[in-house]
Amino acid sequence: VMAAREAARGAASLDELREILAGFDGCNLKRTATQLVFADGNPEGRVMLVGEAPGRDEDLQGVPFVGRSGRLLDRMLAAIGLDRTGVYIANTIPWRPPGNRDPSPMERAICRPFIQQQIRLANPDFLILLGNAAAKEMLDTTMGITRLRGRWIDFDTGARQVRAMATFHPAYLLRNPLQKKLVWRDLLTLKAALEEPQD
Ligand code: URA
Repeated sequence: VMAAREAARGAASLDELREILAGFDGCNLKRTATQLVFADGNPEGRVMLVGEAPGRDEDLQGVPFVGRSGRLLDRMLAAIGLDRTGVYIANTIPWRPPGNRDPSPMERAICRPFIQQQIRLANPDFLILLGNAAAKEMLDTTMGITRLRGRWIDFDTGARQVRAMATFHPAYLLRNPLQKKLVWRDLLTLKAALEEPQD
């Protein structure tokens, strides 16, 4: 964990962070994964979305959210006029856990400094945490997604305070489509924030 923290802090840009992660051997998930799944979208965008971990499709393509969940995520973004040219997408864990098992507490701890640095360097105005695991991880809380979701929470990137919001994960919505109405509300909250005058 100390080595991960030092390695992550050494990155001065997102390109450097990707290089450092690609060469980092301190997480055993790297050994079973096909490749690193670092990010997709536009790091200059005002919105950054963070999911949990790559699945099979993401592992094969090296791109986050390209499977079924990703297609739903694209539709969610489109509903408020966004697409991957305007948002930046990453995961709390950049390598696929074997068979999509839950990452262990140690694996989470090792990967945490990297996603923290990735958020800091991307420097979004709004951080959207997709699902319980990402919300718990990034907000350092034990509060469940059902209570956390839908409201802005101050988030310190290390460089500045930004607004973070948790919402349900698209994979959860595929299993529980009735919850889409709550996510629709969350998306409208994000849209309203994007429409506020900027200073
Ligand atoms: N689920 C996630 O949390 N992340 C991905 O990249 C794909 C599916």
